[in-house]
Amino acid sequence: MNRLCEIRDLSVTYRGQAVPALDRIELDIVTGERLAIIGESGSGKSTLARGIAGLLPPGIRLSGEMRWSSGQAPAPGRDLGFVFQDPSASLNPVLTIGEQVAEGARRHLGLSWKEAHAHALRMLERVHIPQPGKVMNAFPHQLSGGQRQRVAIAAALAAKPGILIADEATSALDMVVQAQIVSLLDELVREAGMTLIFITHDIALASGFADRVAIFKDGRLVETGPTGAVLASPREAYTKTLIASHRDLTTPPLIREAGL
Ligand SMILES: Nc1ncnc2c1ncn2[C@@H]1O[C@H](COP(=O)(O)OP(=O)(O)OP(=O)(O)O)[C@@H](O)[C@H]1O
Ligand SMILES: [Mg+2]
Repeated sequence: MNRLCEIRDLSVTYRGQAVPALDRIELDIVTGERLAIIGESGSGKSTLARGIAGLLPPGIRLSGEMRWSSGQAPAPGRDLGFVFQDPSASLNPVLTIGEQVAEGARRHLGLSWKEAHAHALRMLERVHIPQPGKVMNAFPHQLSGGQRQRVAIAAALAAKPGILIADEATSALDMVVQAQIVSLLDELVREAGMTLIFITHDIALASGFADRVAIFKDGRLVETGPTGAVLASPREAYTKTLIASHRDLTTPPLIREAGL
């Protein structure tokens, strides 16, 4: 097991808040794994995601540490891609899709505009956007929500980061598109050996593909372990409740997949 990052005793409190958003988190991130961070709204998932990405706002109180095996935190945009819950948060409304996807590749891979443009087109093909040539010249508002989310993923992946954090990247989408995007992320992780940190409130979605789950509640890490093991024999009462609320999780196929 090759550890990418060791999160130790990490606590984060936002300015003006009495209660910490993250409370003494201990979590390892393993190179090349698909780690699902699961929890209800307000449990601290996005705070953890932003903490890992080095994107926390100024004025927060932070203690503990994140030890990166490389000795330094990954550079967002280059070593680490981030897909936000709302794709409009990552897309600029006044730039074409092609310009935005090409920008990361140009800046971080040192490509010329022409090379970056060709690379952007390939990235759009990789995320299975229909008519990628046409989409290159479109503006974000001319695309559907699912297409925008695929574009945001393409843009996050354009610089070939080793780590991708997807913060509820599929939550706003309908179930079919959601399933397509999850399988796309899965494919990219397998092909590129990327580490995926997939954040969701939906344990059923995460259980379908994550290697490991980390369950959060009220800023605390309730439980973590291999997906199959946690689903088949959760240790904590909260995890049991979460699993029980998704009856389909206890059906035979998933238990079989868990190897039990
Ligand atoms: N910028 C901020 N300023 C003050 N408090 C914040 C800020 N961002 C988050 N919080 C608080 O920190 C706690 C954790 O929030 P966070 O956004 O990490 O939760 P989450 O699990 O991502 O929730 P959701 O599923 O709704 O996205 C919440 O109580 C939230 O109100
Ligand atoms: Mg969030």
